[in-house]
Amino acid sequence: MTTAYQEHLSVLSHRYEAAMAHFDLDAIVLASGEKSYYFQDDHTHPFHAYSGAQQWLPFTLGAETYVVLKTGEKPTLVWPIRDDFWHAPNPVPSGDWQQNWNIITARKTDKWFANLPKQTAWLGPQAMSFAVACEGLKAYVDFDKAVKTDFEIQAMRQASTRGAAGHIAAKEAFLAGMSELEIHLAFLKASQQTATQEPYPGIVGLNEHAAVLHYEHKSIEKLSDSRTLLIDAGANQHGYASDITRTFTRHDDDFNALINDLDTMEQKLCRSAMSGVAFKDLHQDTLAGVATLLSEHKICSLSVEEQLAKRIPQVFFPHGLGHLLGLQVHDVGGHQADKMDTMSMPDEHAPFLRLTRTLEKNMVITIEPGLYFIPMLLDKMQAEIPNHGCDMTRIQHFMPYGGIRIEDNVVVKNDQPENLTRIAFENAL
Ligand code: GLY
Ligand code: MN
Ligand code: MN
Repeated sequence: MTTAYQEHLSVLSHRYEAAMAHFDLDAIVLASGEKSYYFQDDHTHPFHAYSGAQQWLPFTLGAETYVVLKTGEKPTLVWPIRDDFWHAPNPVPSGDWQQNWNIITARKTDKWFANLPKQTAWLGPQAMSFAVACEGLKAYVDFDKAVKTDFEIQAMRQASTRGAAGHIAAKEAFLAGMSELEIHLAFLKASQQTATQEPYPGIVGLNEHAAVLHYEHKSIEKLSDSRTLLIDAGANQHGYASDITRTFTRHDDDFNALINDLDTMEQKLCRSAMSGVAFKDLHQDTLAGVATLLSEHKICSLSVEEQLAKRIPQVFFPHGLGHLLGLQVHDVGGHQADKMDTMSMPDEHAPFLRLTRTLEKNMVITIEPGLYFIPMLLDKMQAEIPNHGCDMTRIQHFMPYGGIRIEDNVVVKNDQPENLTRIAFENAL
C-alpha cells in the first residue's frame, strides 16, 4: 500500500525532476542550514530548517542536514553526526520513511559531496563551492509549493487541532482575568509547545493592544478591566503551520456585535475560497464588506461606494486578506504568476496583499479580515481625507477595545472548501 507520505515523495520527485530537466541539471542539493549565534555569545538563535529541505521529511529537521536529488534515484539524506557530549544525541529517526531513502551519515569534515556530478545546483541558506549557480531554480520549485499534497494537508489538520486547543485555553485564561503572559502560557501548554517551537511568535493583545497588528510583547500585568483579547497564534506539525486568530470580548455589547458580524463575513469569505477565484477579488470583496460593517455599525455615514472611493475601509483594515500557508507561515510563491518568476505584485489599493494568485485546488490559504481602531491611521484619515463621514465620538467609544481579527486556514477546493480551523474547533468541543 502506498502511504500519503510515499505519494507526497512521488509528487516532490516529479516536481524536482522537471526542474532538473528544465535547467539541465544532474543533481540538486537542499540544505537545512546551519545554526547561527548571537553576537559575541555562545547561544544560538532558534533554528528553523530551510523549508525546501524540510518539505521532504516527516519529522522536524535539524541543522546541517542535506537532501540530495538525482533523476531516477531514491533521494539521499545526509545526516550529521557529531562527537558531542554537551548536547543530546542525534540519531537518525526510525520509521517506515527510511524505505524510500538512501541514508548516509557524515561528520562536518567529511566530504560527502566529493562525487556529486558537475551540474549540481544548491538551494539553501549558504552557497556551496561545489554547486553551480542556477538562476530561476528557486522560483521554479517555489511556484508548485502552493498546492499541497494530502500528506501536507494532513499535517496542517494536526497543526490546526493543536492550535485550536491552545485558543480554547487562551479564551478561558482571558475570561479568568489573566495577563497577556499568562494567556500566552495557557496557549502554549494546551497546544503542547514551547515559545520557540511556535510557527511564529504568538500575538496576545488585551484591550488597545488588539489594535497593534503584530503586537510583540506579553505584559505581566493583570488588568482589572480586560475587555478584549486578540490572540493570533498557531502550532506546527513537523514544520507545517496553523495560523489562527480569534478575538474575544467579555460583555455582550456593541463591540461584541461588531465581532459577530465580522465573524459572519469571515466565514462567508472562507466558503468562497474555491479554485478559479482570483484572491485579489476576494480582498476587494473584503474591503466592500468592511465598508458595509462601518455603515451598519454607524461608524461611517458614507455609502459603501463613497467609502471605497475615499479608501475609508483601508483605515480600519490596513492589511491583506490572507496568504499562502505551509512550511512558512507566509508561504513562498504568493506573488508569482508562473514558475518562471514573473511577478504579480498587488496594486496600490492593497499594498500589503501577500497573495495575488488565482486559487487552485489544494492550495492552503489564510482568510483573515480585521477591523481595528488604530490611532495613527485615524489621525491620518482626519488630516488627509476631507468629508470622511466617520463619527469620531463613536470611534472614541470603540478605541479602548483595540480591534478585531478573525483568521482561519482553508484548503481550496473546486466546490466546498475545507476550513481546517473551524473543523478543529468543532472537534475540540
Ligand atoms: N500571524 C501572522 C499572520 O497572520 O499573517
Ligand atoms: Mn496569517
Ligand atoms: Mn495570524
